[in-house]
Amino acid sequence: MADLIVGLQWGDEGKGKIVDLVAKNYDIVIRSQGGHNAGHTVVVDGKKYALHLLPSGVLNPNAMNVIGNGVVVYPKQLIKEINEFDHDIKKKLLVSDKAHMILDHHIQIDKARERLRGKNAIGTTGRGIGPAYADKIARVGVRMGELRNIDKLMEKLAHYYEMNKGYFEYLEIEIPDMNELRKELEFYKDELIENITDTTKYLWDNMDKNMLLEGAQATLLDIDHGTYPYVTSSNTIASGALTGSGLPPKALNKVIGIAKAYTTRVGNGPFPTEDLGEAGDKIREQGHEFGTTTGRPRRCGWFDIIAARYAITLNGCDEVAIMKLDVLDGFEKVKVCVGYERDKEEIDYFPSELDGIKPIYVELDGWSGSAGVTKWEDLPENAKKYIEFLEDNIGTHIKYISTGADRNSTIIR
Ligand code: GDP
Ligand code: IMO
Ligand code: MG
Repeated sequence: MADLIVGLQWGDEGKGKIVDLVAKNYDIVIRSQGGHNAGHTVVVDGKKYALHLLPSGVLNPNAMNVIGNGVVVYPKQLIKEINEFDHDIKKKLLVSDKAHMILDHHIQIDKARERLRGKNAIGTTGRGIGPAYADKIARVGVRMGELRNIDKLMEKLAHYYEMNKGYFEYLEIEIPDMNELRKELEFYKDELIENITDTTKYLWDNMDKNMLLEGAQATLLDIDHGTYPYVTSSNTIASGALTGSGLPPKALNKVIGIAKAYTTRVGNGPFPTEDLGEAGDKIREQGHEFGTTTGRPRRCGWFDIIAARYAITLNGCDEVAIMKLDVLDGFEKVKVCVGYERDKEEIDYFPSELDGIKPIYVELDGWSGSAGVTKWEDLPENAKKYIEFLEDNIGTHIKYISTGADRNSTIIR
């Protein structure tokens, strides 16, 4: 059976921290979508790890880590992450032979397209994610398993570059030197071939083990259900974790939704509860809200009940973790969005288009001193009231409350 950790907002909720916290209960930790656009932070005994492609279970020495078929893998980044790690993670890592590969030209296309979109840029991470998934859907992508036969792969790529000559010219991107490319692919093969396998079969053969699926990005960035086109290019929701791993729907046991006690977004697109004033700046400062992957400042605002309910339903969440409660320490009042308004009409669901949506807020009394608290009864009264208010309104049990980046700064209810 598999449990799933999934982001309920626009990413960076603290999925990495919770995956690491619970990983000791699991035999296998699986990434099933996204790529190195993800940046998952784990802090253990003051030491910080930023993971992009490696599942956040890698700090648990017992778990097997799987990069599933739904992930887009930039081999250069994967090799870098493996080599930077302080223990031999290679023996505990499997990469799907069906996972699509990001090559350098995907990164160049991503950046060129963003440049051409000008003020309508999506604000991608520039990691080649969209172009790699586009090739997958267009059935012209290359998969990790193809590293087994470099001659054949080179033939296929030569044809690909030939077909895309005009497009590359338009984007002012150079077609790579084929000798250099072959060397690069051979290097990937030498480094990774032992880890590449049919991970779907591996998961089926281990169905009696405890598995944890680690979501990347988050619900509101989902290609179908997010704020299109300001989304990522994969299905980030629970159902995407199944296609991205090959696990059957009935293998899914518990779904844990992760949300911050407020909201952030990095990149462009609608964000109804964004606070462009002092409060937003204070959240950014206290929460160190700068991207793990790109270092960009994150846009900050208040918790959005409407968006959270939408995300909880889409994912079928059994329980929720509320992260970074400590960041709201010191606010006299905290706001929570309990409804939307458009053209004087009240809306109590998350619509397909957010144009013109205005949040309806309630204000709750603030608190101080939640940082580092590990027991519910030790939380300040108003912090408890805040959590209970969220719980009542999202209609789902808040099992975890995070009060600091470290693994230990967590309340389990
Ligand atoms: P992910 O992408 O969902 O794994 O989240 P990120 O790692 O990108 O961003 C979350 C950031 O918040 C990281 O820097 C974490 O170390 C940090 N963090 C996680 N939980 C807490 C918390 O409860 N309090 C504080 N202050 N920081 C936290
Ligand atoms: P984790 O897993 C936050 C955002 C980008 C951009 C949009 C599309 O750490 O939560 P992409 O490069 O995927 O084509 O960019 O999605 N984005 C993220 N935002 N956290 C992430 O991952 C993200 N991955 C992508 O900022 O708005
Ligand atoms: Mg992140």
